[in-house]
Amino acid sequence: MSEAPKTATLTIDGENYELPIHSPTSGPDVLDIRKLYGQAGVFTYDPGFTSTASCESTITYIDGEKGILTHRGYPIGELAGQSHYLEVCYLLLYGELPTAAQLEDFESTITRHTMLHEQMGNFFRGFRRDAHPMAVMVGVVGAMSAFYHDSTDISDPRQREIASHRLIAKMPTIAAWAYKYTIGQPFVYPRNDLDYASNFLRMCFAVPAEEYEVNPILSRAMDRIFTLHADHEQNASTSTVRLASSSGANPFACIAAGIACLWGPAHGGANQACLEMLKEIGSVDRIPEFIERAKDKNDPFRLMGFGHRVYKNMDPRATVMKQSADEVLELLGVEDNPLLQVATELERIALSDPYFKEKKLFPNVDFYSGIILEAMGFPTSMFTPIFALSRTVGWISQWKEQLSDPAHKIGRPRQLYLGEDVRSYTDIENR
Ligand code: CMC
Repeated sequence: MSEAPKTATLTIDGENYELPIHSPTSGPDVLDIRKLYGQAGVFTYDPGFTSTASCESTITYIDGEKGILTHRGYPIGELAGQSHYLEVCYLLLYGELPTAAQLEDFESTITRHTMLHEQMGNFFRGFRRDAHPMAVMVGVVGAMSAFYHDSTDISDPRQREIASHRLIAKMPTIAAWAYKYTIGQPFVYPRNDLDYASNFLRMCFAVPAEEYEVNPILSRAMDRIFTLHADHEQNASTSTVRLASSSGANPFACIAAGIACLWGPAHGGANQACLEMLKEIGSVDRIPEFIERAKDKNDPFRLMGFGHRVYKNMDPRATVMKQSADEVLELLGVEDNPLLQVATELERIALSDPYFKEKKLFPNVDFYSGIILEAMGFPTSMFTPIFALSRTVGWISQWKEQLSDPAHKIGRPRQLYLGEDVRSYTDIENR
């Protein structure tokens, strides 16, 4: 016998309104308020979307209380340990793990789209040398709409697919070239005989004057960083991409919007901010001073790399990232690096401090990723571009899902207006 659909009753001024309740595969039930304004003439208020589901999705699931993250049902720990980035990209985009033939075909397609239109080099050269690579990425990715006209028609599924492949394939080249430009070195072209992560490392660190050997342990660590950042359901940048796309904007413009949102220190910019904070702390004896500042309500300082809107437990990505950090630092022989000592001690103190325990502030993925990236030789300004390139597949998968959802509409939130009521214009001499 099928169960009767669940509903909730809302009473306003003695009048009852029935709200349908949807039950997800996992997670809390969701109240459907779509008809509420039409029926009851009221809006709901939820700044920061702390209790609001903005869409249906089948891509990623997070249980923040238990510290669980799955993509298409597969736990992130298994994917980071047993799969690799391009296979996870396929899973996110198409919903299932690929067969060997599908994976080979997908990898070959992505590899063969890594080059940029040659004229895009001129576009990079228009920036100042001291431009932040995220500024360059926002500009160059947005400008892809001016170079790839044959994949901007969002009503054509084939064009949508080509745009997806192009974005995933070209993002490492764009990020690497943004870096090369800021250090005044020539752009390094992609090579089709290298895997995705190795290619990126080579485009960042090779110079024409000598051969560059990709270290397989570093390439594996790079691939794991990409995998751990691939998608994270309806976070700020993904919601930005969905909102931009809801107006029918082209995919390159939507992803540029996502990159812009990711840049902020409360989101993707936290890895750069975290490493800068570790440097500012400088030595273990200064940690208590910074812990006190983080707890002080009158001080805007926050411990970067700690806390998360959704995780009220250890960020499962941070658990894998910590293992990866240990491996990389051992390989590079920098276990006694002062930054690492500060990070290890900070983590220990924060995890045992009542303030952080009560507020459930655990280290997040950005706490460890910066340490690995710095040890690999990346400057802090490249941390967020690496997050952006990893997240591109998540943005694209969510964008693709949104466009194929028949219920999708332009995103148009309402507001709680607290400004002046209607008043008459006053001539300037009477003000
Ligand atoms: N240091 C000190 N106190 C903190 C911190 C922190 N890092 N994070 C939160 N708090 C406190 C905050 O002051 C507040 O206290 P109270 O309830 O007394 O006012 C309480 O914890 C809840 O904080 P919130 O700002 O209401 O929580 P939020 O869900 O809006 O913010 C966050 C989440 C990630 C923006 C925040 O924890 C933060 O700013 N963390 C540092 C930045 C960071 O590491 N961001 C990376 C997130 S992971 C990568 C990604 O997904 O982008």
